[in-house]
Amino acid sequence: MSRYAAFVFVLFLGVAFQLSNGIEVNVKDKGKLCLYANLTLNFSVSYEVAGNKNSTVEIELPMTATPEGSKCDNTSSTLMLSFPEGHSWSINFTIKDKRYQADVITFAYNLSDLVLFPGSSANGTVTVTAKPDIKNVGLDTCYSCKSEEIIQASPQVNMTLSDVLIQAFVVNGSKSENLTTCAADQPVTPTPTPTPTPTHVTNTNTAAPTPNITTTVVPPTTPTPTLPTPTTGNYSIKTDTNGTVCLLANFGLRIGFQQDKKYREVNLEPPAEASGTCGVNSSELVLASKDVTVQLTFTNDSTKFRLHAVNVTVTTSSGVFVQTSNNLSLWEATVGSSYMCNKEQNFTITSLLSLYTFSLHVQPFGVKNGLYSTAHECSLDDTNILIPIIVGAALAGLILIVVIAYVIGRRKTHAGYQTL
Ligand SMILES: *[C@@H]1O[C@H](CO)[C@@H](O)[C@H](O)[C@H]1NC(C)=O
Ligand SMILES: *[C@@H]1O[C@H](CO)[C@@H](O)[C@H](O)[C@H]1NC(C)=O
Ligand SMILES: *[C@@H]1O[C@H](CO)[C@@H](O)[C@H](O)[C@H]1NC(C)=O
Ligand SMILES: *[C@@H]1O[C@H](CO)[C@@H](O)[C@H](O)[C@H]1NC(C)=O
Ligand SMILES: *[C@@H]1O[C@H](CO)[C@@H](O)[C@H](O)[C@H]1NC(C)=O
Ligand SMILES: *[C@@H]1O[C@H](CO)[C@@H](O)[C@H](O)[C@H]1NC(C)=O
Ligand SMILES: *[C@@H]1O[C@H](CO)[C@@H](O)[C@H](O)[C@H]1NC(C)=O
Ligand SMILES: *[C@@H]1O[C@H](CO)[C@@H](O)[C@H](O)[C@H]1NC(C)=O
Ligand SMILES: *[C@@H]1O[C@H](CO)[C@@H](O)[C@H](O)[C@H]1NC(C)=O
Ligand SMILES: *[C@@H]1O[C@H](CO)[C@@H](O)[C@H](O)[C@H]1NC(C)=O
Ligand SMILES: *[C@@H]1O[C@H](CO)[C@@H](O)[C@H](O)[C@H]1NC(C)=O
Ligand SMILES: *[C@@H]1O[C@H](CO)[C@@H](O)[C@H](O)[C@H]1NC(C)=O
Repeated sequence: MSRYAAFVFVLFLGVAFQLSNGIEVNVKDKGKLCLYANLTLNFSVSYEVAGNKNSTVEIELPMTATPEGSKCDNTSSTLMLSFPEGHSWSINFTIKDKRYQADVITFAYNLSDLVLFPGSSANGTVTVTAKPDIKNVGLDTCYSCKSEEIIQASPQVNMTLSDVLIQAFVVNGSKSENLTTCAADQPVTPTPTPTPTPTHVTNTNTAAPTPNITTTVVPPTTPTPTLPTPTTGNYSIKTDTNGTVCLLANFGLRIGFQQDKKYREVNLEPPAEASGTCGVNSSELVLASKDVTVQLTFTNDSTKFRLHAVNVTVTTSSGVFVQTSNNLSLWEATVGSSYMCNKEQNFTITSLLSLYTFSLHVQPFGVKNGLYSTAHECSLDDTNILIPIIVGAALAGLILIVVIAYVIGRRKTHAGYQTL
């Protein structure tokens, strides 16, 4: 009884329509479409004929083919095309990770069939298998491949598949309109030739390499062209009321920023338009060049001043980059003095923005007669390290002189006593 039930369960209803040069197959499970195929299939088979000779026949899938033996399961399915005299062709599919693929094509041909294989001297059925290139097909989509795929199953058997439309796992009984197209059908998009980066390579007298057809995939190395040191700009801001200079700044500025996950650097090229305001507790310097705008805000708490906020806008070919930070304490010095750093300094403003300064000198408050007041130098500058060394060395020298003088003095007095 259970055996009978199992037999009923695997009883499928297959319908095949022979088309001109192709076949359309509907495999149904309990009345519902579960596998659909529309394809053209040709075989080329070489076989032995009398006199130890080989003969090759081109066979089209016969009109009499039926989908007998096809079956559908939840995770695997088989399309089987059987035709008289014991020939059959099958392809089986499996689902893996929401995609399906064809696993094996099996072709069994009966050399005793003298209609298909005239003059065959061999007897019996030959079975060959091959691995088709049907993979990564989206579940609930049809695999579509109009191009010919020639599959060499053995030295004696070639199979040609073309105009293939297969849905191996039909959902809800109706064929999907969505397609997964094979690579061969996809329009050939010319691989974008890597734009030659304008690297300033010294001209070696080698002949220019002649490009050949092979397209080598060049890994997208982000070229970091070494920028020249930015030009030092001299900026000053005057008061609105009487036109005296209230803010002085000299520096070269490079901006390092990350846009679209790519790190780039750009120099702020003077002459940049300098504008700004001077206040009692807050002063502002705005530098605007063609593609770059930098806004620096200084604050003071009446004893010390600092660079408190930075707003950078860079316009590139890929869009506008804007980063702001208003929680900084950089370039710190006493009000009434200036801040100076000749060495290159780099400041991380945000995770996407860095500023590099060169020959920096600023005084945002208390400028007198348009001149810088005494400078507080950054710890990076040599002079700052040199001063304690010089002072230390001078002190050591002084001590040494005193000691020597003392020793000599002692000796002289001692000798004096002896001569006496
Ligand atoms: C299949 O074979 C037939 C007859 O040999 C031929 O007309 C047809 O073009 C072939 N189709 C393919 C796709 O090779
Ligand atoms: C015929 O095919 C067989 C194997 O398929 C090969 O060994 C044999 O050399 C072939 N004969 C000729 C005459 O090409
Ligand atoms: C197949 O799926 C159906 C419903 O989705 C389920 O009832 C049946 O048990 C599954 N069969 C197997 C063999 O997983
Ligand atoms: C596919 O067919 C091959 C050969 O007929 C067989 O070994 C394999 O088990 C089949 N796979 C499935 C999932 O039916
Ligand atoms: C082919 O098989 C038939 C029976 O199946 C046998 O009578 C015949 O001798 C065989 N021919 C050859 C060439 O092996
Ligand atoms: C099929 O295409 C339709 C419309 O483009 C889309 O809404 C649907 O999600 C697609 N189904 C699958 C399985 O890709
Ligand atoms: C199969 O195709 C290969 C390559 O195109 C060819 O060399 C070979 O002769 C073909 N074999 C048959 C049996 O047609
Ligand atoms: C089957 O495929 C052929 C060739 O691509 C096409 O002309 C035909 O209309 C298809 N049949 C159906 C029912 O879609
Ligand atoms: C392409 O050119 C390079 C050098 O110009 C050469 O080494 C290589 O073999 C060529 N490749 C082909 C396929 O011609
Ligand atoms: C100019 O105006 C500023 C305030 O705006 C003031 O501090 C400064 O003393 C004035 N200088 C002169 C020369 O009037
Ligand atoms: C930063 O500057 C841009 C223009 O350069 C401006 O649109 C933006 O509002 C500024 N952001 C802040 C926080 O000041
Ligand atoms: C910026 O400074 C950090 C440490 O202060 C250093 O590790 C980094 O290499 C510097 N970057 C550049 C481009 O000089």
